[in-house]
Amino acid sequence: REEVVTIPVVVHVVHHTPEQNIGQEQIDSQFKVLNEDFRRANPDVDKVPEVWKDLVADARLEFKLADTDPNGKPTSGVVRVETSVESFEPDHGVKYGDRGGSDAWPADRYLNLWVCELKGALGYSTFPGGPAEIDGVVILHSAFGTTGTAAAPYDGGRTATHEIGHWFNLRHIWGDDGDGCSGTDFVDDTPNQGGNNRGTPDFPKVSCDNGPNGDMFMNYMDYVDDAAMFMFTKGQSERMDAALAGPRSSFLS
Ligand code: ARG
Ligand code: ZN
Ligand code: CA
Repeated sequence: REEVVTIPVVVHVVHHTPEQNIGQEQIDSQFKVLNEDFRRANPDVDKVPEVWKDLVADARLEFKLADTDPNGKPTSGVVRVETSVESFEPDHGVKYGDRGGSDAWPADRYLNLWVCELKGALGYSTFPGGPAEIDGVVILHSAFGTTGTAAAPYDGGRTATHEIGHWFNLRHIWGDDGDGCSGTDFVDDTPNQGGNNRGTPDFPKVSCDNGPNGDMFMNYMDYVDDAAMFMFTKGQSERMDAALAGPRSSFLS
């Protein structure tokens, strides 16, 4: 595939306090980041270590607020719901109107993105192939976008980049085996890596005999700070393409 695929997104802003009812500017700031990160157009891409520059992918994916609702009517692509829930658990509750959340739009036509107060995580996502009513991505409002309530060190919009990576079937780069060396992300061009990385590591950071270059901790699918992550690899982009050709093929027009 050479063409860029544009994914229509519905943003469900589920708020208990006025602060959580984030503004349009904050939403727009998130889309700017997504449309840079998935196009290798992020301004920090030049920080990728020399040894990995050739691996950096333009994933040819773009995101826009939906302009048509499920009934074919014009929409802003933003649904605002006031809730009595002070903070959601990462248990899909925010995806149901009768649990104080907002019901999903049809998951074969929209990427559902819920923004709310969330306990215990910056965000979470479903993988392709699951139930439509919970399909999508949930992001803590203070880890969403780059302005408004977005708070350091997660004010770079990268939580959504990471979670949408999962939505396109990407796994964590360390292979989800704790600190072990036998897990895999099912991608060939990412180094085998022990556990996740946090904060802003210094290059190189070696684990699992992956020297001299070590962990690709600056990958969006690690756990470092927003300012420390700035790449998908070509192998990851191929895996996202496979999701788009398979379980997410309804988004290919
Ligand atoms: N699912 C991860 C968590 O909530 C998201 C990590 C995103 N990392 C980031 N730098 N924004 O823990
Ligand atoms: Zn993750
Ligand atoms: Ca591992």
